[in-house]
Amino acid sequence: MKILGIESSCDECAAAVVEAGRKVLSNVVASQVELHARFGGVVPEIASRRHLETIVPVIEEALGRAGLKAKELDAIAVTHRPGLIGALLVGLSAAKGLALALGKPIIPVHHVEAHIYAALMPQEEPVFPLVALVVSGGHSSLYYLESLMEMKPIGSTLDDAAGEAFDKVSAILGLAYPGGPAIEKAAQGRGEGTIPFPRSFPGGEGLNFSFSGLKTAVLYHCRGVPKPGKKIAPGTRGGSDKFDPDSAGDVADVAASFQSAVADVLVKRTIQAAQKYDAPSIVVGGGVAANSLLREKMAAAAKKHDKHCYLSPCEWATDNAVMIAGLGYILYQAGRIGGLDTEAYPR
Ligand code: KG4
Ligand code: ZN
Repeated sequence: MKILGIESSCDECAAAVVEAGRKVLSNVVASQVELHARFGGVVPEIASRRHLETIVPVIEEALGRAGLKAKELDAIAVTHRPGLIGALLVGLSAAKGLALALGKPIIPVHHVEAHIYAALMPQEEPVFPLVALVVSGGHSSLYYLESLMEMKPIGSTLDDAAGEAFDKVSAILGLAYPGGPAIEKAAQGRGEGTIPFPRSFPGGEGLNFSFSGLKTAVLYHCRGVPKPGKKIAPGTRGGSDKFDPDSAGDVADVAASFQSAVADVLVKRTIQAAQKYDAPSIVVGGGVAANSLLREKMAAAAKKHDKHCYLSPCEWATDNAVMIAGLGYILYQAGRIGGLDTEAYPR
């Protein structure tokens, strides 16, 4: 069974053809990174407009690379939530048009669940139940899975997503967008850094995250702590005596110290969740799952606590349509098929 996957929830316009949920026949991603870089983040209206321009050529290229005609597809899987509403609507409308023209079914896919599927795709027989961590620019969530059909949210960030914190700290340091790869590169060879940035574990029932305190700690370290009655002139360093933005060593140390604080929090919470739910396995997906330090720390902690650890292959960690077509196949098998009345939801 050959499924076309379509993904347009944020700033990647992607299409892929996957056979039987696993065999990747094509994988096309048109990134908008350069378009949004000068704003330091994704601008929703610009994203939707660019999706409109690229969606048809991207789908055509995915079909071409797979060596298929549209009529040879068996179904169309499409991200319908969560994401930027305008961006989602472009992919969903394209999927509906194709489904109507070809007389093929539509399979609506949850973007975050697809990130989990991407991490499990290489596994022949993952051991359930498992606890999944999805960390990306828009999400930092924990799920408990009895099976691929039952994904129960058990925790989430109360403020910034982990990837968002990487992007903002990268901007504070004057590094590139997106921030994750830029910070990882700047931190190379600096181990865990020397600055004791805070590791926050919000209390209460949920296994939640919070990264805004860490982000503020980095800001104050780099620009100085604001004092009542003392003005900071725009564009100046603001009086930090701990950080010189022109010193590559200072930038590297902040990058390494920040990165290890994020990784520590993600690893500790995920292990806590696996213990609480008595899950023998841990899965990590989403863009931040490409981070080497996080991968190392998670694998080591899983080993220590005797858990299986399934890390998303880096090529499928960031947004793509392989994960949409892949999970689409599993949903199709379970009869979870949508219609032309399928709606898009931002959450
Ligand atoms: O999954 P994704 O492509 O899009 C969303 O669904 O949000 O994730 C993008 C996020 C960005 O915030 C980016 O900075 C982060 O993933 N990211 C990384 C790395 N590669 C991408 N964060 C840390 N280390 C990386 N190597
Ligand atoms: Zn994503």
